[in-house]
Amino acid sequence: NKGKYEHYMQKEIHEQPESLTTTMRGRLIRGGSCKAKTVLLGGLKDHLKTIRRSRRIVFIGCGTSYNASLAARPILEELSGIPVTMEIASDLLDRQGPIYREDTAVFVSQSGETADTLNALEYALENGALCVGITNTVGSAIARKTHCGVHINAGAEIGVASTKAYTSQIVVMAMLALAIGGDLISSQERREAVIDGLFDLPSKVKEVLKLDQEMKDLAKLLIAEQSLLVFGRGYNYATALEGALKVKEVALMHSEGILAGEMKHGPLALVDETLPIFVIATRDACFSKQQSVIQQLHARKGRLIVMCTKGDAASVCVGGSCRVIEVPQAEDCLQPVINIVPLQLLAYHLTVLRGHNVDQPRNLAKSVTTE
Ligand code: UD1
Ligand code: F6R
Repeated sequence: NKGKYEHYMQKEIHEQPESLTTTMRGRLIRGGSCKAKTVLLGGLKDHLKTIRRSRRIVFIGCGTSYNASLAARPILEELSGIPVTMEIASDLLDRQGPIYREDTAVFVSQSGETADTLNALEYALENGALCVGITNTVGSAIARKTHCGVHINAGAEIGVASTKAYTSQIVVMAMLALAIGGDLISSQERREAVIDGLFDLPSKVKEVLKLDQEMKDLAKLLIAEQSLLVFGRGYNYATALEGALKVKEVALMHSEGILAGEMKHGPLALVDETLPIFVIATRDACFSKQQSVIQQLHARKGRLIVMCTKGDAASVCVGGSCRVIEVPQAEDCLQPVINIVPLQLLAYHLTVLRGHNVDQPRNLAKSVTTE
């Protein structure tokens, strides 16, 4: 049921304040006078000790689910102190990459039925790793075959392009980081800030959704383009990859997510006065580096669209003619949840304006059950 919406993708983008609330329901405890702020993941509580003892946490998934893991990686590394690596499921299998008994392997999948991810799960089980699932589908193959896990509880996702599952996956992985971080005194302040940030997230997503019309106007400008580059780094490298994936899969426009730190190692050659470039430059520890990236793109007359934190328009677009999109600020590790929303809206509007099928992009299936 699409309710008041024309497409499922549109509905699923707009219901993210609610889906995120459901994802967190009963799992975050903001204590009263004596209770500390903590997180409770029922499916993991008996396994946290084993996870904390593991030598490595390896995230395994495909497409958007892989991107969500990439978005959560920095906070997992920070709060767990355990090395975190990433694997695209098919690539792990192609290489028969090393998975050890001392590893915690986390399988991320909205459907819980993706063939590549399931095959990687069988492989990790054979190699003796602790296998944890993060899935949206109760009773799915991945939920059943993992040793333990967390349901993201985002509600059924019908549009082929994953939107609300992505943001709920990031939130679950941030909660996973908090749970693994446990009660380490050294990071208590940070953990409490992240928990407060999680509580505030649904209302900030509601706020960023107000950019709908602005993103529709931007889509009108980009309607006839051949290509769109998306630059991000740090917490928002994943946002760049995921934004580009949305644009290419539904709007059928070439788009590429680029790690801004790699700019001078190749991508800069593409920059001219015609190619549109979307730069994510919200406030975090990488902000000044992103400012200098913008200056360099500007010096080469790049056609810039800059996403920045509210109030920062003047400091990201010095004397320039770039288009600016201002978003609300969240705790740095949760900012990817905010920042993806305008890109989801852009992909949606571009698709409708270009006359393509939004909910069932050509050649794609919601659940990829063959290799
Ligand atoms: C569970 C109930 C929820 C109830 C809550 C009350 C289910 C599905 N969930 O939620 O309805 O409101 O207790 O305390 O009945 N699991 C995997 N692999 C996965 C995902 C999950 O093995 O990929 C396992 C978990 O380890 C756990 C079970 O499935 O044993 C349920 O997981 P989850 O729904 O996340 O647990 P709760 O949030 O505690
Ligand atoms: C992109 C998209 C795909 C899926 C991928 C994995 O919008 O939907 O990239 O993310 O096929 O699917 P799940 O998460 O079901 O394993």
